[in-house]
Amino acid sequence: MADILANILQGGLISPKGRLSPTCGPKRYKNSPQYKAAKRKSLKPTASTTKKSTSKKRSKSKSSDGDTMTTTTTTTTTTTKRRRSTSKKKKSKKTFTLEEEIESLGDLASYKIPENLLGREGKEGATYEVYSSLTNKSYAMKAFRPTKSATKISQEAELQKEAASLGVAPRILTYSGSSRNKYILMDKLTHRLSDLAKSKSQNNQLTTEQQEGIIECAEKLDQLEILHNDGNALNLMTDDDGRIYYIDYGFSKYINKKLLKKYGPHVNGCLTISMLVRSFRHHGISAPLLVKYVAECKAAAARK
Ligand SMILES: Nc1ncnc2c1ncn2[C@@H]1O[C@H](COP(=O)(O)OP(=O)(O)O)[C@@H](O)[C@H]1O
Ligand SMILES: [Mg+2]
Repeated sequence: MADILANILQGGLISPKGRLSPTCGPKRYKNSPQYKAAKRKSLKPTASTTKKSTSKKRSKSKSSDGDTMTTTTTTTTTTTKRRRSTSKKKKSKKTFTLEEEIESLGDLASYKIPENLLGREGKEGATYEVYSSLTNKSYAMKAFRPTKSATKISQEAELQKEAASLGVAPRILTYSGSSRNKYILMDKLTHRLSDLAKSKSQNNQLTTEQQEGIIECAEKLDQLEILHNDGNALNLMTDDDGRIYYIDYGFSKYINKKLLKKYGPHVNGCLTISMLVRSFRHHGISAPLLVKYVAECKAAAARK
């Protein structure tokens, strides 16, 4: 543990050598659903619920005499809530373009129903599960209140995209800030880290690997010069393989010279992880490696 901290504070990322389980994001990050699908274990069987959504697309065209004609095309998409089949179906090896992937989801607004809620409904909006029967994958749609500014949504999405480029955040498929339906559409993650920590097997403790993952992600954000800035335990999730991801870039910003001067190279350690430690404490979850890491980051900043 001391080696890891020493290595980090000397400016290096945690070496994955000798690690048995994954930590922050995919080891070789490939920004493709197929990579994730291949990694994903088969879904646990439960009852099935299917839902039909109808989307209407309007297209405008000029008639021969110059008048504008509006054509309405109605598409019916069948979406299925996750955990559908008891039989072990083989995953399709077919690859899909991003456009096909998005199109296969149909009318995104139709998923905004209580059964699809992934998180609590907050002041800013709520996150819903979205399913594609084409890719056989679930996605997460973070939907915002209609008055949320398009600029803020775009800032959040663009920062998350950068974080996703190093596997720190879930991949963003698309986002919209201008239409009536304001959202960020991304890959769905499986577990909230706080739920895992509270499970019987973890007994209100984060594992060493989980804490290393949190630190490794923070180091990657430092590399990208992004301050996550919302160290809430609920903003940490894992995928099926237990890898850590930071979600929710609503308060994130680029690390400027002033922050660098004050905190040195471990800005996320001094600020985001420091907040996370408080949040975990609030949830009754112990994270000693994070406590130590924050202390080392702050001590290094003070020595500057
Ligand atoms: N990619 C995702 N996969 C699965 N669940 C998600 C995802 N993104 C968000 N959630 C769920 O929605 C909740 C709220 O999302 P978040 O982005 O933190 O919104 P807020 O800005 O309201 O805090 C999360 O705590 C989590 O439960
Ligand atoms: Mg949040």
